[in-house]
Amino acid sequence: MNNSSKLHFFILILFIVTGCNKSKNIATNTIESNSAEIETKIDSIISLLTLEEKVDLCHAQSKFSTKGVDRLGIPEIWMSDGPHGVRAEISWDDWAYAGWTNDSITAFPALTCLASTFNPDLASQFGIALGEEAKYRKKDVLLGPGVNIYRTPMNGRNFEYMGEDPFLASTMVVPYVKGVQKNGVAACVKHYALNNQEHWRDKISVEVSDRALHEIYLPAFKAAVTEGKVWSIMGAYNKFRGEYTTHHELLTNKILKGDWKFDGVVISDWSSAHNTKEAALKGLDIEMGTGTDGLGTTTANHYSQYYLANPFLEAIKKGEIPESVLDDKVRRVLRLRYRTNMSNNQSFGRANNKEHHDVARKVATEGIVLLKNDNSFFPVEDNVGLTIAVIGENATRSMTKGGGSSELKPKFEISPLKGLQERYKNAKIVYSMGYGSGASVYDQVLPSPYNADSLKTEAIKVAKTADIVLFVGGLSKSHLQDSEGNLDREQFDLPFGQIELLNDIKALNKKIGFILVSGNAVEMPWIDSVDGLLQTWYLGSMAGHAIADVISGDVNPSGKLPFSFPKKLQDNAAVSFGVESYPGVELKKDNKNASLNLESNTPVSPTQEYKEGILVGYRWHDTKNIKPQFAFGYGLSYTNFEVSDITVNNNTDSFTVTCNVENTGQVNGAEVVQVYVGKPNSEVERAIKELKGFSKVYLDKGEKQSISITIEKSDLAFYDESISDWNLEKGDYDIYIGNASNNISKKLSITIN
Ligand code: GLC
Repeated sequence: MNNSSKLHFFILILFIVTGCNKSKNIATNTIESNSAEIETKIDSIISLLTLEEKVDLCHAQSKFSTKGVDRLGIPEIWMSDGPHGVRAEISWDDWAYAGWTNDSITAFPALTCLASTFNPDLASQFGIALGEEAKYRKKDVLLGPGVNIYRTPMNGRNFEYMGEDPFLASTMVVPYVKGVQKNGVAACVKHYALNNQEHWRDKISVEVSDRALHEIYLPAFKAAVTEGKVWSIMGAYNKFRGEYTTHHELLTNKILKGDWKFDGVVISDWSSAHNTKEAALKGLDIEMGTGTDGLGTTTANHYSQYYLANPFLEAIKKGEIPESVLDDKVRRVLRLRYRTNMSNNQSFGRANNKEHHDVARKVATEGIVLLKNDNSFFPVEDNVGLTIAVIGENATRSMTKGGGSSELKPKFEISPLKGLQERYKNAKIVYSMGYGSGASVYDQVLPSPYNADSLKTEAIKVAKTADIVLFVGGLSKSHLQDSEGNLDREQFDLPFGQIELLNDIKALNKKIGFILVSGNAVEMPWIDSVDGLLQTWYLGSMAGHAIADVISGDVNPSGKLPFSFPKKLQDNAAVSFGVESYPGVELKKDNKNASLNLESNTPVSPTQEYKEGILVGYRWHDTKNIKPQFAFGYGLSYTNFEVSDITVNNNTDSFTVTCNVENTGQVNGAEVVQVYVGKPNSEVERAIKELKGFSKVYLDKGEKQSISITIEKSDLAFYDESISDWNLEKGDYDIYIGNASNNISKKLSITIN
């Protein structure tokens, strides 16, 4: 027996002598997750582990789990999607569902809806409830939230994320992460970083300035790590400056683990790891979903062939990679266990209970955005004799299915039609599908089995009999719509013949309220044909109840748009710079300067350049004076609010905006006061104004409240590429106070010396 194994043997004996039951309950006698005692325990465990056991902790053993160490009582890690609900159980070794009958859960609203509430407290309730459901489903890591910035309306996965503004996303992601982790379940903020489209997602190489990277695309991740103390983060599929983001020198080693001092676990996206040395030396801690053929497909016993499996083990044995690199990964994955399944604050979690349904309904009703309400179309009274025609496939189509990895199997899902039928007892509700989007199989769209003409004819007939029409349309979570996977949306306007149908109904001279079920902006050439317009997102289990709550006036809508609706696609910043900017261009093999990727001898990745820089969303619309259809931060109410007596108080390290908000209308409601800041005569290009604070205030009719919003001056710094650091410019700053990015009540000024 050589010395090291003697030492191991001795320690093992020591372990057994000092409390053999300890080895079994090594998992339980721990205190707070970040205590020195845990680090000491981790040290002692590392010294007991064989090299093979250590390496096995760093890669998958199945589609959604990694190995533990049986002999030491160290449990496996189990992961599950997704950001707005716990996904149904997946098979051990392929993407098929396992067909369990006890894995139905609560489907919460998708995160665009949560962002629209502009209510951090709801984000906390959302996280806590979702974390309880994940705990109940025995998951240690919940693969969410997604906080990639909304750069273009064509990105299929925007519905899963928190909009176009880094401050809003940063403010909402922190309480969500804390809420999930309160249950001893790790949140996994994703996809780090620059995964802002689905087109070519697994090979596009993004070029973007350091300034835009730090000011627009990183803040929400930084907030999740440094304020939310997130326990895991997911690398993205795409490259950044030619290097895969899942194991990236600048993003992972320097910024995440260096500057931000992230002490959690970097998990790959499924088959987003590409190279043993890169993964080992550039910060990947757990490799998931790889197929040895690199296509992410399943091949027999391929887990041992993962980049961080046998190849990694061999590289360490040969001394090509120091064992200390492995030990850092092992430390992190053990720390993850002490925070989750080895923690002593074990709870059982809960699922499908009333509290969770109430949270889902609350987030949904507070996230719905009233965009238009001519002639007070909404709310619709439940009057005897009133006939309401509900037209459109999205009134009955399930929206928890589809969309990719965030799809859910809810215990129930109340459709808009069902919600309306249950709420309206006096009025008569008649329904007609009107249009069909066809079946949506993950990677293809099958033509609708219905005859479009007969659907339309029937819908016109039904509409004729009605006093008003509720058109429930929008997108679907199927291929080329709001969905994950290689291709993004291919059209900006409403699909499946909805516009023609809407025009035909308009010709009947009916008053129309449009219920837009989507996770993305759409073109609205039909906006003048509708009297009322609600943006209702993908709302999950309680969708129908929430939509009926708002349409009936039981709840006064208070949502604000988390992203701009450009009038035309060309008005979107990313799109306006052409294909080099979105969706990127493929470098041809014969392109003289296209270097071949030595390893796989294929042409270099398609590349794109974020030419708009920091001018994303309303930053673009304001600064270039391109009026959007609807602006970031915009949302109407059934009542009116007045913002007055606005003052700003310049403190040492911060300044405080104070104002009075009065509900001058006839119904209770809530308003979101927003504070934007701009810098005239700046030494660098700047957006006219950027969101730096907001506060949601609930007011009964006639009620007036004073609110104050404090903003740290350090938040006004710009990222200075000449010093690779933040730079707080001296001089005057414009302070804009209003209730939408395009509805400013007052502009004040402060000076920073
Ligand atoms: C998917 C998604 C990621 C998800 C993972 C597991 O490709 O990009 O968000 O968590 O794989 O399903």
